[in-house]
Amino acid sequence: MKITYFEKERIFKLDTPKTSYLMGVVDEENFLGHIYYGKRIEDYNIGYLMRTDEPPFVPSKNNRERGSFYDTFPFEYPTGGLGDYRESCISIRTEGGHVGCSFSYVSHNIVKGKPDLTGLPATFGDQDSCMTLEVIGEDKHAGMKVALYYTVFADTDAITRSVKIENMGENPFYLTKVFSACLDMDNQDFDMISLHGSWARERHIQRKTLGYGIQNVSSFRGESSHQDHPFLALATKNTTQENGEVYAMNFVYSGNFRAQAEVSQFDGVRMSMGIHPEHFCWKLMPGAEFQAPEVVMIYSAEGLDGMTTSFHHLYKKHLIRGEYKDKKRPILINNWEATYFDFTTEKLLSIAKEASSLGIEMLVMDDGWFGKRSSDNCALGDWVVNEEKIQGGLKYLVDEVNKLGMKFGIWFEPEMISPDSDLYREHPDWAIAIPGRVATESRQQYVLDLSRKEVVDYVYECVARILRSANIEYVKWDMNRQLSDLGSYELSADRQGELYHRYVLAVYELQDRLTKEFPHLLLENCSGGGARFDPGMLYYSPQIWCSDDTDAVERLEIQEGTALIYPLSTMGAHVSDCPNHTVGRVTPFETRGIVALAGTFGYELDVTKIPQEDRDMIPKQVAMYHKYNDLVRRGDYYRIASYSQNHKYDCWEVVSEDKKEVLVTFVQVLNRANFKSRRIRLKELDPNKQYHIEGEERTYSGEALMYAGLQIPNPWGDFKAMLIHLVEA
Ligand code: GLA
Repeated sequence: MKITYFEKERIFKLDTPKTSYLMGVVDEENFLGHIYYGKRIEDYNIGYLMRTDEPPFVPSKNNRERGSFYDTFPFEYPTGGLGDYRESCISIRTEGGHVGCSFSYVSHNIVKGKPDLTGLPATFGDQDSCMTLEVIGEDKHAGMKVALYYTVFADTDAITRSVKIENMGENPFYLTKVFSACLDMDNQDFDMISLHGSWARERHIQRKTLGYGIQNVSSFRGESSHQDHPFLALATKNTTQENGEVYAMNFVYSGNFRAQAEVSQFDGVRMSMGIHPEHFCWKLMPGAEFQAPEVVMIYSAEGLDGMTTSFHHLYKKHLIRGEYKDKKRPILINNWEATYFDFTTEKLLSIAKEASSLGIEMLVMDDGWFGKRSSDNCALGDWVVNEEKIQGGLKYLVDEVNKLGMKFGIWFEPEMISPDSDLYREHPDWAIAIPGRVATESRQQYVLDLSRKEVVDYVYECVARILRSANIEYVKWDMNRQLSDLGSYELSADRQGELYHRYVLAVYELQDRLTKEFPHLLLENCSGGGARFDPGMLYYSPQIWCSDDTDAVERLEIQEGTALIYPLSTMGAHVSDCPNHTVGRVTPFETRGIVALAGTFGYELDVTKIPQEDRDMIPKQVAMYHKYNDLVRRGDYYRIASYSQNHKYDCWEVVSEDKKEVLVTFVQVLNRANFKSRRIRLKELDPNKQYHIEGEERTYSGEALMYAGLQIPNPWGDFKAMLIHLVEA
């Protein structure tokens, strides 16, 4: 890890263990240009790649061709409105209504460690594990200072970036767009990889050819969303899991985003990421600053595997925090699919009793315990225990569960308000709405206006009061509708465009307060399943509910897409009952357990009602979890085969850091007649070690397992899964 400034050549060079990133300052006007991002190189003198010796030259020497310069130069942080017709990273509107702006390098600082991003989640590291470059630029005419931040890490091939804007002038201006990162490169015949989805079908991998013009994925739903994901990768055409070049960006933010690639007339590609400019307008007063969220950039010369490994390492070590950062999570049983809204203390205790006798460690009480909530059409905001259902009160229930040797967890949806709630009847202006217009309902609820301090304080106290009232050790924090009808009764007209971002900042503030007051709490985020599964939320909660779809086969694709970026330890995954409540499919109980093992592991069923043979399997699954979870959580994950691509079977493995142990998961979806065994090749073992499959005598060399492979017998039946555990002989 190194950051160097070469003064004579005016070049910045950032090095991670295997990658280098170079940018340079050119001309008397101090334009900052991107030079190179790729495999680590030692040479720094490659400023020629900015093409400043090719026509149309630099502007100060040939002002008549200034427009051509603007439209071709590989800007490190492109500005809009002055002649660069590609998509910019920043737009402002002055009080006079003008929109052009520019960026000229002024100075820089290189420091050890990494400064926090005020009010925002971000990766972190200490003085020895990372270093940061701050590049300061300005637009004198607009009175704007722009600070670009870059951090490199000693142990991971990631570079993080963020941007801070300051108004240095005497008048306010409006920020109408502020992206956080940009890569202006030559197009290498790229494919674009993104994650697409829907409710119960999140993060399916999509790959397509990158063509001329703008291609993007985005959300302006107020959250990162089921539909698109704040992630984008450009991969060379031949890129596979193991080979080829990948440039990836992931946004450490949970609100509106845009991730984009634009191929220009000169075969340049500009890849950028930031807050979605739709409905965004932030008023910056003189002296005020705006901190844009962080983007994580990864370059891999080792295909998608290399990218995934870097993301996983970064997030495990430099993003996830708290007591459960590297701790086995309790095996939970959640009553949602077991009872929906129809439960009482007695019912919950009957589930808990049976569950504890089978080795399950925590009961989670889901939606429906508060106010008059007996369906999803009312009472959000009325966070008072419904003692008609929870007879004896919450503390009694929690104590009884604790007496069984189990922990207790609870569900909240703190950001919401039902039109049919005491809270709404008292404070109709607390809902986000456009005054005078009937606001759009979704799941018969509105979203609270978290830009108001009294609303944030009310929400916090509601949650904290309940947590203080009993020994509650886990919270599932849900968010079940997306934002619309953007309007706040309190913000002034010139600040209404700030509502989306202020909302996200308030969610972060709430979770920050919660995790500080309750440092031992295990927090799991959720949003109608996995609509807010992003690095921003992972900063507060070490796990996120991956999807409302718990079907083992549907989960293969969802978990594959999620694990492309996020460590297995973050993926909320449960065994549920069959026929599956979302797709009606019947899969073996064993398979459901094996698929859930690749995540946090738990149950979501009425354990008093499932068939005896399924119940009998639970203690074995519990033992399996305890046996393998350290490996699953800490090991390196590699994708071996993808059901979403081959439509036949799925296969992945987790290898321990010392390469002494590997757990392979194989899932055959549909069986076919007359098939032989399947050969799979393992990854990243030690070629010189000997391994044996647990319970078998014979040994296999690491090199044979990796280069020649292992034979997996063809399972009899559909939806069959198996685990293969190999240890050093
Ligand atoms: C969302 C969650 C579910 C469940 C319900 C309760 O859909 O994803 O797991 O908690 O809300 O209403």
